[in-house]
Amino acid sequence: MGKEITDQIYKTIKERRSIRSFTTQKVPDEIVQKIIEAGWLAPSAGNRQPVEYIIIKDEAVKQKISVQKFVGTSSVVVVVAVNKDRATERYGERGEKMYIYHDSGAAIQNMLLMAKTLDIGTCWIGAFNDERVSKLLKLPDNIIPMAIIPMGYPESEPSPPRKIPLEKIVHSEQYEPQKIKEYLMSLVD
Ligand SMILES: Cc1cc2nc3c(=O)[nH]c(=O)nc-3n(C[C@H](O)[C@H](O)[C@H](O)COP(=O)(O)O)c2cc1C
Repeated sequence: MGKEITDQIYKTIKERRSIRSFTTQKVPDEIVQKIIEAGWLAPSAGNRQPVEYIIIKDEAVKQKISVQKFVGTSSVVVVVAVNKDRATERYGERGEKMYIYHDSGAAIQNMLLMAKTLDIGTCWIGAFNDERVSKLLKLPDNIIPMAIIPMGYPESEPSPPRKIPLEKIVHSEQYEPQKIKEYLMSLVD
């Protein structure tokens, strides 16, 4: 891949932001499809592919799915869920405790980045009432909601969040606990 593509991917990763305010413009279905396709293309432990997607356009359901009000102002919401059985039937406890999170996380991040390239704003919502979401979407017991992703055209671009400097969290050969300690100390000074 050429330098131009590398630069574009880096820019997409760097400039993606969590978007919490949207214009009233609707996101076309084919764009939502493309974003979900990016999730579908993500890696999956043992290629079990437990991740599934629920597209919500109904205004009343969008309003009810989260107490975070901005979710209801998005054009469309995609709930990313996992079929727990598909991960556990091969991997047992590790499938349930780890791989369903890895698989859905990989899919979600692919989606957020694809959305960014299509000028669609998204926010990864992890704080929701599992029971409420499951009931609202009629999820069977083995389908676990992992994230709510509201999508729409951004009303504004938030500024980047503060990040822990990279050199404080990258370790050489073995874990170097003093690095993060020094950083945390510098914050209280
Ligand atoms: C697992 C996970 C759960 C999150 N849950 C929420 C949430 O419930 N509500 C929300 O507004 N943002 C949520 N976020 C977005 C983070 O707040 C956001 O990614 C972080 O502040 C960094 O900002 P950025 O996404 O613009 O880089 C979540 C992000 C992740 C990865």
